[in-house]
Amino acid sequence: MTYAVETIGLSKTFPGGVEALKNLDIQVKEGESLGFLGPNGAGKTTTIQILLNLIKPSKGVVKLFDQNTLGRERELLKNVGALVGMPGYYKSLTPDDILSYVGRVFRMNKSVVRKRSNEVLDLVGLKDARRRKVGTFSTGMKRRMGIAQILVHDPDLIILDEPTNGLDPKGVREVRDLIKEINKEGKTIFMTTHNLNEVDEISSRVIFLNHGEKIGDRDLGELRKQLGSKSIEVKFLRDLTDKETERLAEINHVKDIEVTDSIYLRYEGNGETTYEILRDLVQLGLPINHYRPMTLALEDIYLMLYKEEVTK
Ligand SMILES: Nc1ncnc2c1ncn2[C@@H]1O[C@H](COP(=O)(O)OP(=O)(O)O)[C@@H](O)[C@H]1O
Ligand SMILES: [Mg+2]
Repeated sequence: MTYAVETIGLSKTFPGGVEALKNLDIQVKEGESLGFLGPNGAGKTTTIQILLNLIKPSKGVVKLFDQNTLGRERELLKNVGALVGMPGYYKSLTPDDILSYVGRVFRMNKSVVRKRSNEVLDLVGLKDARRRKVGTFSTGMKRRMGIAQILVHDPDLIILDEPTNGLDPKGVREVRDLIKEINKEGKTIFMTTHNLNEVDEISSRVIFLNHGEKIGDRDLGELRKQLGSKSIEVKFLRDLTDKETERLAEINHVKDIEVTDSIYLRYEGNGETTYEILRDLVQLGLPINHYRPMTLALEDIYLMLYKEEVTK
């Protein structure tokens, strides 16, 4: 199996002492759509800038398609298309002008560029606007133009930094659908966002970043399966022993348990089931001080991971 992106022990301290990344290990499988999620200042853009060799890490290794990029950045980045911020275009250029320029930069054959331009303009929904000046485009159209531009050389890895930031609801919808489509075509997506719904809709996996550290890494396919099942959050007055925790896992209906600063009992069933679980839990004689049935959703995980931030 190939990792389109892998970082090992990636750290970045900016001059002045801001530790933007601390020992970050991430792996993105080929074909995957990764949502790189975190609040402002978490280190998302810094990570992307390092992947794109726009800034150097203080420590650590970056691999693209299983190859260490050190000293080979140019060559390996040819297989990457990245959109970071809003591309600035001369107002009088048309999509056709821009794409043929990009084709020249990548030293692509003219007829290949023409064919590829047709494909990507079709994909991003700008075929009818191909001879219009981009100065007349809406923000959403410009963002889609930016995406067309990074696809011309047919890269296997697409890196997007907050791709729907600043767009109106219609623009957000179009760009999200477009990203899903690009992933369907087999390209790996590495996308940052601070929007939970965006990840839920687009990504197959989510990595949670906070203060430059990875605080979670979840497969959303598995998570969605669990959405059918439910969980109960339980807290006790003291930490449980391993033996006591095991007894929780043995309660009837409980499928598995997750221990963080609370204990989550995952179960399948209905309201009757939560009553039976509570009854059995009480019979164990453990010092319960909190019992809350909940459905397991991405938001619960988010709140669990970012609890420290939320309660600050
Ligand atoms: N060029 C820089 N010089 C100093 N500090 C920076 C620089 N770029 C980013 N930072 C700091 O690094 C941290 C992470 O920033 P960033 O990667 O932009 O976060 P995000 O994209 O997740 O919002 C922030 O505290 C930010 O202020
Ligand atoms: Mg950012």
